[in-house]
Order: sequence, then structure tokens, then C-alpha cells
Amino acid sequence: MKLIRVTDREALSVHAAEMIAGKVQEKPDSVLGLATGGTPEGTYQQLKKIYDRGGIDLSRVTTFNLDEYAGMPKEHPQSYHAYMQHKVFRPLQLRPEQTHLPNGTADDLEQECRRYEKHIAAAGGIDMQLLGIGENGHIGFNEPGTSFSSRTHVIQLKPSTREANARYFATIEDVPEQAVTMGIETIMESREILLLVFGRRKKEALLRLLEGEVQEDFPASVLKKHSSVTVIADEEALADV
Ligand code: GLP
Repeated sequence: MKLIRVTDREALSVHAAEMIAGKVQEKPDSVLGLATGGTPEGTYQQLKKIYDRGGIDLSRVTTFNLDEYAGMPKEHPQSYHAYMQHKVFRPLQLRPEQTHLPNGTADDLEQECRRYEKHIAAAGGIDMQLLGIGENGHIGFNEPGTSFSSRTHVIQLKPSTREANARYFATIEDVPEQAVTMGIETIMESREILLLVFGRRKKEALLRLLEGEVQEDFPASVLKKHSSVTVIADEEALADV
């Protein structure tokens, strides 16, 4: 893993957006793996700035998101569909056929998982996957204990993850109990991975990632086995490293 140290969230977002823009410049029909949560928001804003000044042509890219809450209608303001529409797809003028998220309201979620995998494969696999990290080391919604050989699947969210995400909902009871997420093996097949970590809240997770062992107990540790991972982290997250 290559570690890039930056001063703060702003610098992290600028750097990450430039890396994504660089990838698209090098390969205009890139397949981008995208993430939600608070972490990549600044990156998407910076990408919009690059887009507005004509610095990136996104007309040929394809995108696949990591995950979606199970049972969450696309129109629900806290769905990852809604997040992506408002913060990414609309601002960057991506056409619906360019973008993909798992459908959390499919009648048969197992079938939906297989469909999602097939779409990723048909697109030629993911060129660059953007990732955040959960406080418990989850990537996508792959909670501690998830098999490193998992493909897109339905996952039961840990109480700590529901608590961490409760800030986006009226009450913790409103946070869904399950999600559909790309599997760890699906993520590991991406040709390049960009992991973003900022803030004090993530410093234990980052320390364990950088200095701990590779274990299914701590999903992000699998990234150490990938040949092309860049971690961009800010001073607060790196405080104990
Ligand atoms: C969420 C998402 C992850 C994200 C993580 C951290 O549950 N499913 O993809 O990386 O938790 O979220 P945040 O960036 O808001 O800290």
C-alpha cells in the first residue's frame, strides 16, 4: 500500500479528485467504483470543480457503487441511490445508463447480487475503486468476519455500523438492518484502489490497517494483499501512526 499524507480533508479531496481525473484522462472509458458516506463527499465536490472547468470528460465512463441499504426505496433521502443522484450523477451530468447501484428493493436480493456481479464483469471489471473505511474496518458494507472470498451479497449490519450511520437518520431504528454490498473479492478484483481516511474518528481503524495483521476480523486489512492500493490520509487520522 502506498500512503499519501495530507494536511486535512480539503487536501485529501483535491488529491483524490485529481487521481480520478488522471485515471479518466488516461482511460476515457474507465469503469469507476464509487463509494458513499461522508468520506468521499469532498472528493465529489472537487471532481465537480474539475468538470466545470472542462478538465474531465466523463461521457464514456461507467460507474458501479459499492453498496445500498436493503429494503430502502431509491427515492428515500438516505438511500445511496439518492446520495449519488444529488452529489454525483446530476452535478457531473452522468447519464442513467452509465451508472449502477445494487437495487436494495429487488424482490429477490440473492438474484440481484448475481445480476450486479454479471454487470461488473460485462463492463470489463473496475479500473479504479474509491473506498472509505468504517470505524470497525468495514469496506463497502463488508462487516468484520466477512469472507475474503465473498462476492456481492446481502449483509446483516453490525449494531456499531448502524450507530455510526444513525447520524443521517431521524432515529437509529430507521437505519436498515441489512445491505447489499460488493464482496471483498469483488473489491479486490479492481485494478486499482483508492482508500480515503480522514478525521480523528478513523484513527484507530487506520492504525490497525497500517500496522495490524491481515485478518477477516478487520476487512480493510485485505487491501494489503492488493498490488495497487493508495491510501490518502490526513493528519488527524494519522495522529497515532
Ligand atoms: C458506510 C459505507 C461505507 C463507508 C463507511 C464510512 O457504512 N457503506 O462505504 O466507507 O460507512 O462512512 P463515512 O465515510 O461516513 O465515515
